[in-house]
Amino acid sequence: MNSGRASFGSHLGVILASAGSAVGLGNIWRFPTEVGRGGGAAFILIYFGFILLLAMPVMLCEFVIGRSARSNAVGAFQKLSPGKPWIAAGIMGVLGGFLVLSFYSVVAGWTLHYTVQSALGQLQGQQTTDLHALSACLGAKASENGLQSTDFAQAFNAFVSNPWQPIIYLAVFLLLTHFVVARGIQHGIERYSKLMMPMLLVIILLLVCFSMTMPGAIEGIRFLLQPSLSEVTPEVILGAMGQAFFSLSVGLGCLVTYSSYFSEETRLVKSAMNVCIIDTLVAVLSGFIIFPTVFSVGIAPDAGPGLVFITLPNVFNLTFSEMPLVGYVFALLFYVLLLLAALTSSISMHEICTAFISEHFQTGRRRAAAVVTFVCLLLGACCSLSFGPWKEITVFGRGFFDLFDFTVTKFLMPLGGLLMTLFVGWYLDRRFVEQQLTNNGALSVRSMRPLLVLIRWVAPIGILVIFLNEIIPLFL
Ligand code: PFF
Repeated sequence: MNSGRASFGSHLGVILASAGSAVGLGNIWRFPTEVGRGGGAAFILIYFGFILLLAMPVMLCEFVIGRSARSNAVGAFQKLSPGKPWIAAGIMGVLGGFLVLSFYSVVAGWTLHYTVQSALGQLQGQQTTDLHALSACLGAKASENGLQSTDFAQAFNAFVSNPWQPIIYLAVFLLLTHFVVARGIQHGIERYSKLMMPMLLVIILLLVCFSMTMPGAIEGIRFLLQPSLSEVTPEVILGAMGQAFFSLSVGLGCLVTYSSYFSEETRLVKSAMNVCIIDTLVAVLSGFIIFPTVFSVGIAPDAGPGLVFITLPNVFNLTFSEMPLVGYVFALLFYVLLLLAALTSSISMHEICTAFISEHFQTGRRRAAAVVTFVCLLLGACCSLSFGPWKEITVFGRGFFDLFDFTVTKFLMPLGGLLMTLFVGWYLDRRFVEQQLTNNGALSVRSMRPLLVLIRWVAPIGILVIFLNEIIPLFL
């Protein structure tokens, strides 16, 4: 063991930091959007299956690789399989880390802007100027009631296409992330995860209570609980796998990096289970915040990525037009929640790259972190501009934001996940893997056999089938 290497100071720190990586915009922004598109409960059931059968085994593999090698994502493969091509999985992970942090920070920057707007009370009472955009945003019930509302679609589009404003928010968000990562493992990542994760969980519970008591909330709850199988298309199934991987942060070596700071006593199987449970719970609870709220004013739930930036501010305004103070608090809490979730995840993306640069090039953590922040600021600015002045610039038919998103979620994550299950399931010695999972025999892991079957067979075959289904049509 490398004695000079930093480590998490407590088991709670391990769980909260890993869960912090998992719980992010993916749970609160992306998950409800995908649920809305994929027919509600049917999507959720498929998603649960993918979490259990594909994403959780990959998480375990990452833990085995990281904790046994005690190195960054690239170094870990170098140590466990010197001179072998497996290192490609680590290199892809670090590249993916740069890409994911860049586009993720753009949306996190939007979130920061909406947090500031809601704190200043500016999300309330924006008057509409375009009735077409308004009726596109609002559903039947709102217009039947003749309610005055606001044009959040226009405000959102004007903001994201502005050449400067979103880049400034992106930079501020990246600096916040930088601040935490540069402080190190215990004083930075662990300390701030321990602070932010409990806050996040309390806010979620408060908002669930709020939204469940809204008139008409039952429609939203029904949507979440009643599977409508007719909506399940192959695309929905592919989307569910992508979502499971993205949500658990697996496939890029993020958890290889985090688990390299675990102690010998950390129980890998139990920690993986805990992280999966927390992440899934937060995703479902976010559904219970968003859908009852959205249905209570009769808006279609499949509003796409604009759901939290266009639909929800509208909903807050409509629902609370009689009680502006309650609306103010609800909106502010919601965006603070989104911001905290984004920050705990972006820290882990940053750490993939910072750990690699600092260990590979033998440079200090602060300098390595500064390089990562700077590169991601440049790449993130390209993503941000692809919503505005650079809209016409495309690579393989996609703007920068879409290109990065596609490369990471559809390509690098599944491929990385596949390689990691093959590496742990087939390349590493089986006894070595069992020793890692049982902490050298100190624990008895009753589910060892099924776990190994998942790692060796179910996960790689499942990922491969879905991945090929997704990739082959692109080349036909
Ligand atoms: N799991 C995060 C989310 O749900 O928002 C996203 C993420 C974090 C992806 C870290 C990849 C990663 F390495």
